[in-house]
Amino acid sequence: MKITFYSFIVVSLFLFVTASCKKDKVTSILNPNCTDTIYFNQEILPLITDNCTSCHDVGNSTGYTFTNHTNISANASSALNAMRGDGFQLMPQNGPALHDSLIQKFNCWINQGKLNN
Ligand code: HEC
Repeated sequence: MKITFYSFIVVSLFLFVTASCKKDKVTSILNPNCTDTIYFNQEILPLITDNCTSCHDVGNSTGYTFTNHTNISANASSALNAMRGDGFQLMPQNGPALHDSLIQKFNCWINQGKLNN
């Protein structure tokens, strides 16, 4: 009987901790005014390399590879939605979410036509 009771406590604690660690959805409003030109090679590639490529490198099993202009631009809207936790798991996995300014920058790069500049 005691063992069952302790198991119950342990399971409850586990569920509680798991639930409290769940990340909130990022609700940043995307700013449509992208006045500055965003440069892929100087800004977007480093942003992705620093925050995403450790898990999304060639040969990973997540279904998404983010290493160059071709594969980043092909899945740019999924990446953006994941950065915002909007309909996708919030990324980077296990957080913290990217700073809003970086998410805006990525959004502007998409709005400007995902240039390879
Ligand atoms: C610590 C490792 C890690 C980092 C860093 C990371 N990801 Fe992920 N990502 C994963 C894993 C693992 C999955 C697969 C999750 C699953 O299938 O349950 C995933 C899935 C995704 C998905 C699909 C999510 C969905 O709901 O279908 C997208 C899009 C994505 N990542 C984009 C990104 C972007 C963009 C970044 C950088 C801002 C990033 N990830 C950083 C590990 C990571």
